[in-house]
Amino acid sequence: MSRQYDVVLLGASGFTGALTAEYLAEHAPPNLTWAVAGRNKAKLERSGKDVLHADVTDPQSLRALAESTRIVVTTVGPYVQYGEALVAACADAGTDYLDLTGEPEFVDRMYVRYHERAVQTGARIIHACGFDSIPYDLGVQFTVEQLPERVPIQVNGLLRGGGRPSGGTFHTLITGFSRPKQNLEAHRARRRVEPRPEDRSAKAVPGKLHREQGFWAVPLPTIDPQIVGYSARLLDRYGPDFRYSHYAAVRHLPVVAGGIGGVALLFAAAQLPPARNALLNRLKPGDGPSPERRAKSWFNVRFVGRGGGKQVITEVAGGDPGYGETAKMLGESALCLALDDLPKTAGQTTTAAAMGPTLRNRLVKAGLTFATLSQDDY
Ligand SMILES: NC(=O)c1ccc[n+]([C@@H]2O[C@H](COP(=O)([O-])OP(=O)(O)OC[C@H]3O[C@@H](n4cnc5c(N)ncnc54)[C@H](OP(=O)(O)O)[C@@H]3O)[C@@H](O)[C@H]2O)c1
Repeated sequence: MSRQYDVVLLGASGFTGALTAEYLAEHAPPNLTWAVAGRNKAKLERSGKDVLHADVTDPQSLRALAESTRIVVTTVGPYVQYGEALVAACADAGTDYLDLTGEPEFVDRMYVRYHERAVQTGARIIHACGFDSIPYDLGVQFTVEQLPERVPIQVNGLLRGGGRPSGGTFHTLITGFSRPKQNLEAHRARRRVEPRPEDRSAKAVPGKLHREQGFWAVPLPTIDPQIVGYSARLLDRYGPDFRYSHYAAVRHLPVVAGGIGGVALLFAAAQLPPARNALLNRLKPGDGPSPERRAKSWFNVRFVGRGGGKQVITEVAGGDPGYGETAKMLGESALCLALDDLPKTAGQTTTAAAMGPTLRNRLVKAGLTFATLSQDDY
């Protein structure tokens, strides 16, 4: 494909986009041609890269953007509000697309509307290329690789970590909470059209509160199990009957109760426009945690995988999950798509199916940990 750029980053004037631009500036090899795009030229010129005009409310500008590059990376969210026109443009132009969404409704809706078109043009549409959902998607794949082939497999993921959200993440979270009906409708619409594997079963199942690995395992209804389940449907290696359950790992029961109460309060407030607006005013788009705060942030996900009489425990870990590590994961995903030899995929896919161990190797070189803690008979 002959295009002016290998990669264009949309949203580089925002909090996470600026960190991603910094990551690319430090790590992209000299033969990679990349540029930034957005609606505010003055802000973007600070990057020192070519600046393309693109406004997500102007489909013409997105078409021109998609036709100028092999890969578009976008950090413009909430994606349910701002993301669709760019997915449409990339699917039409046969341009690979990467984002940072953690919004299940958006991913389901994009599947229903643009998957077929992207398959026709060869575009790879890969959502959730940040802390949502790379550690889980690649961590589960890493775990499955260490279990026997062609056997039923169950994996539990247990997340621990600490960090603060940016304004953009907070707005996206509250927007997602305010749309429970649309989320459910999008989920059902996808179920009606996505073909299921004929001779295998692969899905995410909501778990139950229980004790595991010395922690309380609290079911965590984020986008991550949805992404892992889709990878498992795309990849035969996950076996004839694959199940994934996703949890937060919490040491003390009162913290569990406080966490559930806090989320329930945010959810309730998001349903009422005045309370929602008051919440949104507390953290503005463009704001984010300071470098000092980010330096203290961390995450660690433990996976317990069982199948064919074996149990394997693995761990994926890193620093500031939401921003430092997210910029690294998104940047490396773009470099991987642009430069590496990968399996042929098209349409809506996942990091595990499209890049798998090749991306994992890149992330390990970039400082993330993928470790096997134990392997036993079970
Ligand atoms: N799941 C994860 O792991 C993860 C981690 C981090 C972030 N995220 C997601 O990433 C998204 C961005 O977060 P953030 O904190 O970086 O947000 P942010 O600082 O508010 O940045 C938003 C960006 O969108 C741009 N933008 C807004 N409206 C636009 C338009 N009409 N046309 C073109 N560009 C437009 C802004 O440009 P201007 O400067 O011109 O306003 C800015 O560059 C959020 O949805 C967040 O949830 C996800």
